[in-house]
Amino acid sequence: MSTIKKYAIILSLPVISLTSCVSEGNDPGIEYSPNMYISQAYEPYSQEKEFDYNPNGMTMRLPVNGTIARGQLDYVYPHPNTAEGYEASVSFQPQFAATKENVQEGERLYNIYCWHCHGKKGANDGPIFKTKKMNPPPWAGYDDPYIKELPVGKIYHTIQYGKGFMGSHAAMLNPEQRWQVIHYVKYLSLGDAFTFASDDEDLAVAEVEVSDSTEAATN
Ligand code: HEC
Repeated sequence: MSTIKKYAIILSLPVISLTSCVSEGNDPGIEYSPNMYISQAYEPYSQEKEFDYNPNGMTMRLPVNGTIARGQLDYVYPHPNTAEGYEASVSFQPQFAATKENVQEGERLYNIYCWHCHGKKGANDGPIFKTKKMNPPPWAGYDDPYIKELPVGKIYHTIQYGKGFMGSHAAMLNPEQRWQVIHYVKYLSLGDAFTFASDDEDLAVAEVEVSDSTEAATN
């Protein structure tokens, strides 16, 4: 390369560098290091180039309907959050039995998540009901025949979705814990008439049938 060419290049460098980086209108100018803006790795919520088979432009795809994460089979609850779903929940059977250990754990959980409304022994005398911050349920307490006779599946439905002023507790209790709390509610409700399950009964996890037409809740 001739000396003149070399000088021409060296002299033009500041000019190029001063003009090329100026952004104008919609033109971002030259990016110094595009890898810092546009990730080389696939980003879950975006895709650099959309294409026909990926109209959402996201690398991450929704799982196929009905997909259940490994180890979360017992989260499947087949009844939707409707009046009909509530009625149908009567048939939903415990996935965890009322063993002494489960009832004890239910008591611990109840005293975290439930007592401030329903009261330590279920007399609807928790601070929230007592101070009238919220209207108590239409039944007096857990010793009311309504709760004594209430099918456990319906209580599960109420914990899953909430009912009236009671919000959903699905995010706080996993299915095992929901059943532990439900057994404790029945224990408070039935008193001496409550029967504990034997330890080996704790193994049976109900098979839940999910049909295509049912929008199963999995939270
Ligand atoms: C913020 C107050 C509040 C909390 C916390 C709360 N509940 Fe309730 N609960 C209510 C109210 C109000 C109702 C009445 C709902 C209705 O029938 O309109 C109710 C209803 C119920 C029922 C009857 C459900 C039915 O199907 O009729 C049960 C059983 C119950 N709660 C148990 C629990 C358990 C167990 C917990 C803790 C996991 C809990 N509640 C937490 C306020 C609460």
